[in-house]
Amino acid sequence: MSTTSTLDTATNRASSAPPMKRLTVPAFRRRKQDGVTHEPIVVLTAYTARQAELLDPHCDMLLVGDSLGQVIYGLPSTLPVTLEMMEAHGAAVVRGSQHALVVVDMPFGSYEASPQLAFASAARLLKESGAAAVKLEGGEAMAETVAFLTRRGIPVMGHVGLTPQAVNMLGGYGARGRGKAEARKILGDAEALCDAGAFAIVVEGVVEPIAIEVTRAVACPVIGIGASAQCDGQVLVTEDMLGMFERVPRFVKRFANLADSISDAARTYAGEVRARTFPGPDHIYPAPEG
Ligand code: KIV
Repeated sequence: MSTTSTLDTATNRASSAPPMKRLTVPAFRRRKQDGVTHEPIVVLTAYTARQAELLDPHCDMLLVGDSLGQVIYGLPSTLPVTLEMMEAHGAAVVRGSQHALVVVDMPFGSYEASPQLAFASAARLLKESGAAAVKLEGGEAMAETVAFLTRRGIPVMGHVGLTPQAVNMLGGYGARGRGKAEARKILGDAEALCDAGAFAIVVEGVVEPIAIEVTRAVACPVIGIGASAQCDGQVLVTEDMLGMFERVPRFVKRFANLADSISDAARTYAGEVRARTFPGPDHIYPAPEG
């Protein structure tokens, strides 16, 4: 696909070019037909307008993940992320994109207590950001909430396997689905979410055979991360794949080394500024012309 966004060269800001038709939730869902996805689905995380602008032409979905807690805010986990943060970054990503479906994560504590709380939080996220859908973590236990939201006009993407908001229950960020019981649970979770109306499901950090089984078992698209290349699509945290961090999960492939590029640019800039010489106090500045 060719680039969809143009820049106003005077300001280097997005121009008011006519918007492309954005991918809708039903069109996204139709990418998997009768259990088969012919063209793998491309998803990246995005948190800012300019980042969204650069990623948008290449992605089917931009996920405003609550991973922004660690990536943008330097927090130790996703648990402290707030609805206000997700609203602000969701709105920025919607402003910066015109092609990809934008999905915003529901932060920890904003949906688990009841379907009603989830509706209030999700409605607020969609109103304030302009995004088309929300994502929430958890399997069977969240199925009732997913059904409640979807019946009331809020599209939901599920998230099973390694669910970072449950890090205190899971005891870490290790791969899931190694034992038979846990593998069965992950499969049951995905099926329950899909049956409840989720239009897609993220499967994170699970052993490959389980990811493949889930992908084959559910009707909706399965987006893998640390799962399997045989999922219907792939998502990565953009900063991880751009090489912004030294430590990333083992499954992450780096497609660039931006950390080194930024350090080099800052070092060169600092060197140039520090190489400046200040004129002495007796220096006479030339009179302005005219
Ligand atoms: O928060 C996030 O970025 C996510 C993806 C890693 C799937 O949930």
